[in-house]
Amino acid sequence: MKNSDIIVLDFGSQYTQLIARRLREQGVYTEILPFNAKISQIKEKNPKGLILSGGPASVYAKDAYFPNDEIFSLNLPILGICYGMQLIAYHFGASVTPTNKKEYGKSNLKFVSENALFKDTKDGQIVWMSHSDKVENLPDGFKTIAVSENSPFCAFCDEKRKIYALQFHPEVAHSECGDKILKNFAKYICNCESTWNMGNFAKIKCEEIKKQVGKDRVLCAVSGGVDSSVVAALLAHCIKENLIVVFVDNGLLRTDEAKQVEQTFKLKLGVELISIDASELFLGRLKGITDPEEKRKIIGKTFIEVFEREAKKHQNVKYLAQGTLYTDIIESSVVGSSKTIKSHHNVGGLPKDMKFKLIEPLKEIFKDEVRKLGTELGLSPDLVYRHPFPGPGLAIRILGEITPEKLCVLRKTDVILRDELKSSGWYNKTWQAFCVLLNVNSVGVMGDNRTYENAVCIRVVDASDGMTASFSRLPYDLLENISRRIINEVDGINRVVYDISSKPPATIEWE
Ligand code: XMP
Repeated sequence: MKNSDIIVLDFGSQYTQLIARRLREQGVYTEILPFNAKISQIKEKNPKGLILSGGPASVYAKDAYFPNDEIFSLNLPILGICYGMQLIAYHFGASVTPTNKKEYGKSNLKFVSENALFKDTKDGQIVWMSHSDKVENLPDGFKTIAVSENSPFCAFCDEKRKIYALQFHPEVAHSECGDKILKNFAKYICNCESTWNMGNFAKIKCEEIKKQVGKDRVLCAVSGGVDSSVVAALLAHCIKENLIVVFVDNGLLRTDEAKQVEQTFKLKLGVELISIDASELFLGRLKGITDPEEKRKIIGKTFIEVFEREAKKHQNVKYLAQGTLYTDIIESSVVGSSKTIKSHHNVGGLPKDMKFKLIEPLKEIFKDEVRKLGTELGLSPDLVYRHPFPGPGLAIRILGEITPEKLCVLRKTDVILRDELKSSGWYNKTWQAFCVLLNVNSVGVMGDNRTYENAVCIRVVDASDGMTASFSRLPYDLLENISRRIINEVDGINRVVYDISSKPPATIEWE
């Protein structure tokens, strides 16, 4: 197992993954562990420093998260951020209290004394706060290094023990010099070198996978999307002879998708692909199901059943490799203290009695990092920059019950949308674009006749990692073309609407 440069302990902040990613962007290999990770787990990774993330709780809350106390005796540099800062203050005997002057948003950071953490950053820099509890006094041995309007102990440290604490969030883009502060911690305080990149990541993962798999075999499930294709390409590099690549047609795919996936794998990646048509099984089980989470769970379970059936036809298949990303995990709420938003089919949707052991080499990284990895592995730009398509497919884009007729309508609208985006040059400018079949009929007039038909919603979003998104500002003329073509060319649709919600508070998919 590769050593980590920095380990971030996750206390449930929505920004935890941003800390890791900011450091990785600067060449420092960073991994996240749960707040209560065992000391042996931390030591195993041989880190050069620890970061304690923010979190929603108060250190005095009944259900507050505390790390293993021994982290403070590991002789490792520690940086506490927001809740992490309060933990440090509390652990070393200072008092932390709720304040009536809550600090949210921008604040100015004023230096009090020179410090390696703020090297080459400017005095008076904008930092971003989000806290209500406040450190009242400094623990013994610590000194203040910066203040803000409402925080006399906005940044403090014990240089001797190399323990640093920040009230603000350096990881968010609004903190002007946040990247530099995190890099300074890694470089000057933990003595990390900026040598990490996606090429190293591929090597590290290959070593891990080879060691883990040994002589056993791995069934790799691909969907034709970038994540699973990158996993298959990575595995083909390191364990090709033990690899079985499987593509399942679940009946919820877009027009010609199955054909395209087969061509991509056979012709472009040179990987032998086993295609399984399980559409009847999936659609049969989804009959009459309207609840989004139920749909997701059925799909997740059925995928595994189909994979297990296939695995039985080969010898020694112990592992299932999937293109799970950090985003899938956080939304399915299997790390930290985050709430379940939706059960991604490959995470929260997996059955409890699954026989496979999982190989998920992308589970700590984000889509844009996966794209860099795909490029590093030599995948073509049209595959790497393909829009994401979710495993549950069109099932979560048909509100209410899924029927063959509705699937047929949705496929037709989807072809038109993608066609128009590609021919206008907008496909590559957006993160994702799709149609949602609303369970809503409305009155229209076509020719001289009244119609009472379904409405379709166009969802096109801009995003960098899918954690947040805003609707794409498509030109009105393009929207008009899409709407006109859909209504004219697709029977059963008489109204087209455009989704102008951001994520949050909406999500990208409707279900
Ligand atoms: P949401 O709807 O959660 O979507 O804002 C974020 C991104 O994840 C995709 N998505 C999924 N991908 N399995 C997947 O492989 C799933 O169960 C799943 N649910 C959502 C979604 O298309 C978007 O790109």
